Amino acid sequence: MKMKTFLPGDVTGKKVLVRVDFNVPLADGKVTDTTRILAHLPTLRALKAAGAKVALISHLGRPKGTADLKYSLQPVAEELEKITGWDVRFVGDCVGQEVKKAASGWGNEVLLLENLRFYPQEEENDPEFAKKLAENFDLFVMDAFSVAHRSHASTKAVAKVLPSFAGLLIIKETQMLGSVRDDPKKPFVLILGGAKVSDKIAVVENMLKKVDTILIGGGMAFTFFKAKGYEIGKSLCEEEKVDFAAKMIEQAQKMGVEILLPLDVIAADEFKPDSKWSLVRPEAIPPGKMGLDVGPETAKAFAEVILSSRTVLWNGPMGVFEMPAFSKGTEAVAQALVKATEAGSLTVVGGGDSAAAISQFGLEDKVSHVSTGGGASLQFFEGRELPGLEPYEINE
Ligand code: 3PG
Ligand code: MG
Repeated sequence: MKMKTFLPGDVTGKKVLVRVDFNVPLADGKVTDTTRILAHLPTLRALKAAGAKVALISHLGRPKGTADLKYSLQPVAEELEKITGWDVRFVGDCVGQEVKKAASGWGNEVLLLENLRFYPQEEENDPEFAKKLAENFDLFVMDAFSVAHRSHASTKAVAKVLPSFAGLLIIKETQMLGSVRDDPKKPFVLILGGAKVSDKIAVVENMLKKVDTILIGGGMAFTFFKAKGYEIGKSLCEEEKVDFAAKMIEQAQKMGVEILLPLDVIAADEFKPDSKWSLVRPEAIPPGKMGLDVGPETAKAFAEVILSSRTVLWNGPMGVFEMPAFSKGTEAVAQALVKATEAGSLTVVGGGDSAAAISQFGLEDKVSHVSTGGGASLQFFEGRELPGLEPYEINE
């Protein structure tokens, strides 16, 4: 996928407005995970090195169009300054007089403007609001892959107001995810997990024609077991998706795609970290028990497939990885991705929970790419257009 990006000459001496995704977790007014901040640094460094003045806009949380200071970006400004050593100036509004003032006597400092979603016009993709956002700037750079699935004023309308470019994070994401989606080396394995089948249906529909094998774990596996007529005890099940699961198994068979379901299951009495558990066969999960992880036999079988594939796409944990007792299946998959990467395969982790899982195990730098996008990467693999990327796509 080719995207229109900036060259140093495009930005030198310019006032550049950059859409980032600083929607980071906070606790007690401090940033608790800096992954998303770090992901934007290549773009910000490139702009600064070329002599651009840089102003950042972002959302944080879902304040629903009101200025709820619980969602202020101020703590992120402090964190960005700490990480980079730059002079970062927080501006208490994203439009209007405060921005105008900051952009008039503007020296070398990086500006971070207050939460876009304090205005309802942001999520309404309001063209007048986009004009206000653009007012004090010469150029726009879209770097927020993880909100590119939203049609908002700062991701969509603003690109019609200012000359616009994609940033380096967008380039990296679309290259890595694009080579998996559009040009995978075979064999290609798709690993699916997480609680719900419904989140992944459109991804399966689009990717079934491209993959050789699908490994299914996590809560969603039990909907497939139900479709096969197994007893699943108290395990998660999306009743209304059982038919889809049955059809998918049939469709995959017709297309020569192998679907592998768990061979053994860690079944617990309760959804609790210290719950009593036992290893059971998937065909017969006892009535009072719920599957919370895949077992060691599954982990071994899944790892073998991963290691014999040249392209690996992973989306969704294999179990309740936040609880140590039920994290082993997910960790085994993460370790298998690392080995596959060392062996020269392309390994990509879709964002959201699987990204959180791989960093919990400290392995995020040992795979080819971990996407910053949750919803955005799903939509990408569904083969649907992302409104925030469209202005920069170069059709070859
Ligand atoms: C995310 O965390 O998924 C992105 O920042 C987008 O946020 P949203 O789902 O609130 O639009
Ligand atoms: Mg989200």
